[in-house]
Amino acid sequence: MTPPDAPTDTSTGTARGGRRSFAEVFAALSDVQGWMTQAQAERLWAAASRLGAGARIVEIGSYHGRSAIVLSSASVPGVEVYAIDPHGGNDRGPQQIHGEFAEGQADHETFMANLAREGVRERVTHIRKPSQDATDDVPGLLEVVYIDGAHRYEPARADIVRWGRKVAPGGTLLIHDSFSSIGVTLALLTTLVFGAKFRYVGRSGTMTEYRREDVRGPAYLSSVLRQLAQLPYFARNVFFKVLIVLGLRRVTRLLGHGGEWPY
Ligand SMILES: C[S@@+](CC[C@H](N)C(=O)[O-])C[C@H]1O[C@@H](n2cnc3c(N)ncnc32)[C@H](O)[C@@H]1O
Repeated sequence: MTPPDAPTDTSTGTARGGRRSFAEVFAALSDVQGWMTQAQAERLWAAASRLGAGARIVEIGSYHGRSAIVLSSASVPGVEVYAIDPHGGNDRGPQQIHGEFAEGQADHETFMANLAREGVRERVTHIRKPSQDATDDVPGLLEVVYIDGAHRYEPARADIVRWGRKVAPGGTLLIHDSFSSIGVTLALLTTLVFGAKFRYVGRSGTMTEYRREDVRGPAYLSSVLRQLAQLPYFARNVFFKVLIVLGLRRVTRLLGHGGEWPY
């Protein structure tokens, strides 16, 4: 599936085959609102750029388009990129579970405008539905699934179970706000942490990466233990969030945290 000229990492900073480099794309995202660090964007870029024409990527939770722009810019023409987001105004981001439809509609318009501005509007098929209702809209197995939709326990778990099932053998599953959001972390603990169908690869901040393969024996033990080893990081993130909610950002800075909501 990997074409010979596909970029395999983000370190060269040069465009190949007339496509934009990671550095160019990431710089263009500076005024696209969202919660994705450079290291996380590099992880998405690496996953998408490994694919050859005919492969499929699904993103759950698009907001204003940061991750959709990275995934579609990294992948070669012929890779299908689906972005699923109802843009309904709910579950938009940190501390934004409830919202108005008007906010979602504004997000939708901003998303479309950002894709057009970055030249990837035609590369991305947007499915304006909740992810739970969209499993039949994307046919076949998927090479990359990126989950960054509703972070409450039930929908986060449903995304991992229903969309995880569609990841092709050897394919990649990425999940944002892992070991940070309580809902997402509980969903991980009840699905992937002790499961034997995905191997834990690692994380960039709160973005975890898993490989779809049957995991047995020492590899299984290693995968479980490496995930459990993230629980202190989870406790730290929850601690900083509690301080921020209590209006104590200054204290988080004194403790060496930047005062930002952890992501
Ligand atoms: C944290 S934002 C996604 C950020 C985006 N990945 C980025 O890189 O900027 C969460 C998004 O999930 C969307 N969302 C909420 N509920 C959803 C659901 N059931 N299915 C899919 N997306 C959902 C929200 O509309 C919101 O745009």
